[in-house]
Amino acid sequence: MTDKKRIYYLRDEIQKHNHRYYVLDEPIITDFEFDKLLNELEYLEEKNPQFFDNNSPTTRVGGKVLESFKSYDHQYPMLSLGNTYSHHDLFDFDTRIKKLTNNKISYTCELKYDGVSISLTYKDGFLFRALTRGDGVKGDDVTSNIKTIKSIPLKIQGNYPKLFVIRGEVFIPLALFKKMNEDRISKELDPYANPRNTASGSLKLLDSNEVAKRPLDCYLYYVLGDDLPSNSHYENLQYARDWGFKIPNEIKRYDNIDGVINFVEYWNNKRNSLPFEIDGIVIKVDDLATQVQMGYTSKFPRWAISYKYKAEQALTKLNTITYQVGRTGAITPVANLSPVNLGGTIVKRASLHNADQMKKLDIRVGDFVYIEKGGEIIPKVVKVRIEDRDLFSVPTIFIYNCPSCGSQLVNNDVKHYCVNSESCLPQIKGKFEHFISRKAMNIDGLGKETIELLIKKGFIKDLFDLYCLQKKDLILLEGLAEKSVNSLLEAIENSKNISFDRVLYALGIRFVGETVAKTLVKKYLNIEDLMAADYEDLISVDEIGEKIAKSVLSWFSKTKNIELVKKLKSLKLHFSFNHNPTIISNKLEGMSIVISGIFSNFSRSELKKIIEDHGGKNIGSISKKITFVLMGDNMGPSKRKKAEDLGIPLLNEKDFINKIS
Ligand code: IVH
Repeated sequence: MTDKKRIYYLRDEIQKHNHRYYVLDEPIITDFEFDKLLNELEYLEEKNPQFFDNNSPTTRVGGKVLESFKSYDHQYPMLSLGNTYSHHDLFDFDTRIKKLTNNKISYTCELKYDGVSISLTYKDGFLFRALTRGDGVKGDDVTSNIKTIKSIPLKIQGNYPKLFVIRGEVFIPLALFKKMNEDRISKELDPYANPRNTASGSLKLLDSNEVAKRPLDCYLYYVLGDDLPSNSHYENLQYARDWGFKIPNEIKRYDNIDGVINFVEYWNNKRNSLPFEIDGIVIKVDDLATQVQMGYTSKFPRWAISYKYKAEQALTKLNTITYQVGRTGAITPVANLSPVNLGGTIVKRASLHNADQMKKLDIRVGDFVYIEKGGEIIPKVVKVRIEDRDLFSVPTIFIYNCPSCGSQLVNNDVKHYCVNSESCLPQIKGKFEHFISRKAMNIDGLGKETIELLIKKGFIKDLFDLYCLQKKDLILLEGLAEKSVNSLLEAIENSKNISFDRVLYALGIRFVGETVAKTLVKKYLNIEDLMAADYEDLISVDEIGEKIAKSVLSWFSKTKNIELVKKLKSLKLHFSFNHNPTIISNKLEGMSIVISGIFSNFSRSELKKIIEDHGGKNIGSISKKITFVLMGDNMGPSKRKKAEDLGIPLLNEKDFINKIS
């Protein structure tokens, strides 16, 4: 098969698998097989730039950074909807509709997604442009951001109109929002406030590579065009589903308002079980001709309305404010509340975030407060009922000293910190808990209580001590049976096989989360090179900013940390990049590679194995057929000259690892 044919074939295959995975939720191949197809396409497109296509699945990863968005007129103005809040309002709506037309009325009922609206134009079966709502008349062209959302087809299938617009809502599913925030918290970044604002903020980013990292999804709910297949809104959406769009399954059609009210109530009770947030129901007259007949007021369509659910809030009493100390010493104020039911769960605690937030709320112990859920890990206090406040209540003053060790707190940005990392118990405990966690060293069988006990009994002071624990000591601890002790010791031993990036993450350097650890490992390959890096060097690495660079430098400037690394290294924990043979790809497929010189992190046979694992061929001598030379130290001058004369690229160890990772 020619490269051209293969490229077209792969684009089609990948788009089918994307549709199966992101729209139908019925994948038929593994992620690994999918990545293999995508890698091959990437490789062939790079090799054959003449076949570039702006709608290829490879363009979904993000493109060039824009200076600003261009704005364009909407082909059909994007109006919003009138709101209703009661059954009574819905009956009024029905009466109004019936006065405006003698046609028989059916209503479609849809969930009202709480995200950000988007208008997509498809021309000849391809995504042509994606516009934000803007002022309703003109919107921003956010096509490159929208292309990163895998459930939005770049190419559609079947019998679609030549030109049409389809509108929908971009949102972040709750579980992914939660995960994203947990990730941020682990890196000591402030969590995002709620999924809607995060979705909306994401679409406004000028760097689509950044947008590609956000877990955005999109439901489509409105098709517009001159030659749509049906005169029914409901049916057009069913057609759009066949063309490849993600159309909600929850849409229903009723021929009277009672059906609508049942739908509204059904979802009022069930909305907490949905994997995304909704703030109401949208009711639309189904027949397009009747819609045209009814037209618009200056602001809204007369043929549609939204029913808004009340925000999920609860009122309760604030009993105390306590302060938690995180593993890096960050202090988080927590509101301890009288238990209250909020959307089906009993809530006893809510987040107050930081001193600024507390000041804004003017929150005081004894106050009655409104709490709200919004996809956050724990609910937040949104308002204080000042009118019910006790006359003698006193303004809250943020603590000056660490609630655990008593050291004076330091105020940095909006956060307060306890800097006594040496002997502040929650910080020490937090460091151990982080070190053993699943994504770090994955040492199972060591609960929070056991860690506290081991610290209190003086068995563990720094992370190295974990590896010195003995069966005879552990067996004496309350609650640890012999079997558990054995499996704990085994888990500790096994952790010595954990890869360098996870070890680096496990050390608990502030702002070095999983992703940053991976980036640093890819760049520096071993701990010595990372330790030798200076500020300029660190911030020159993609995605490493000032905050991370300073934190890394500060961590390695402390003798006790250097000592810890030395001791852990003596136990043979991984402190250099080790090729993981389970990670294979076809990133080097079709490439012939010469290895030459001496390498600091790998033996030649390891490099040969890596090349083969990634689909490449290791060749002994340089000729014009060679794709690149993997060059170590002391490469022979004649070999080097030959490569240079033939224009063959020379890649060093780090470039090479970056190429395959
Ligand atoms: S239809 C003319 N359907 O709600 C019809 N809108 O308050 C326009 N929304 O701007 C919209 N779910 O962002 C429609 N199923 C749904 C919706 C929906 C959420 C949003 C949309 C719109 C706003 C109107």
